[in-house]
Amino acid sequence: MKKIIITIDGYSSCGKSTLARQLARELNYVYVDSGAMYRAITLYFLRNHIDWQNPQQVREALDNIELEFFFNEEKGGSEIFLNGENVEYLVRELIVAEKVSEVAANKDVREFAVAAQQKMGEGKGIVMDGRDIGTTVFPHAELKLFMTADPAVRVERRYKELYAKNPNVSIEDIKANLELRDYIDTNREISPLRKADDAIVLDNTHLTHQQQLQFALKKVKELMD
Ligand code: DC
Repeated sequence: MKKIIITIDGYSSCGKSTLARQLARELNYVYVDSGAMYRAITLYFLRNHIDWQNPQQVREALDNIELEFFFNEEKGGSEIFLNGENVEYLVRELIVAEKVSEVAANKDVREFAVAAQQKMGEGKGIVMDGRDIGTTVFPHAELKLFMTADPAVRVERRYKELYAKNPNVSIEDIKANLELRDYIDTNREISPLRKADDAIVLDNTHLTHQQQLQFALKKVKELMD
């Protein structure tokens, strides 16, 4: 069967990764969480006190970063590794979330991440989610989805996710972080978040996981027929 590239872009906490994971499982495709790559770079910068306003420091740091995804059989999903260390959980911490949009707006960081992402898509059969996947990374992807959801629903979802790991998180902090990230992601100079002209909008405010999967699978099937 022919293999395609599926891109899923949208605002923070719209359920992009849930859908991307579901789709990859159904189609036996590779799932790549591009946001995890920007998060892992941010973690490296924070740990190593890299000033991301300083281009030389950024370039030197990027030369020392290796990002890989490995499939975790037990969890049934891929996890991100930074220089050989599994950082899948660390990169979800609020301290990383607070800085990641700033780091992701950096030109050298984006060039580094986009080149790695394009390499991963060479063999097709891939679902990648992020902010610029349908516009910059794979402008010729066969299927592009753009996800949205009501902001209050998005805050609630992210709160539940983070609360499960750390009951001290506050809903106000999460709301402020989401709003700030949306603002930076949409207004940055390089590859800002926007819907590709040929992307299909999927608003999942009132959809279950199963319903959003069926919606996307129908689009895949239409392309295959
Ligand atoms: O999808 P996420 O919340 O894990 O993404 C973290 C941040 O990374 C997000 O605030 C913006 C940035 N990002 C990006 O600029 N481009 C992408 N393709 C994916 C994420």
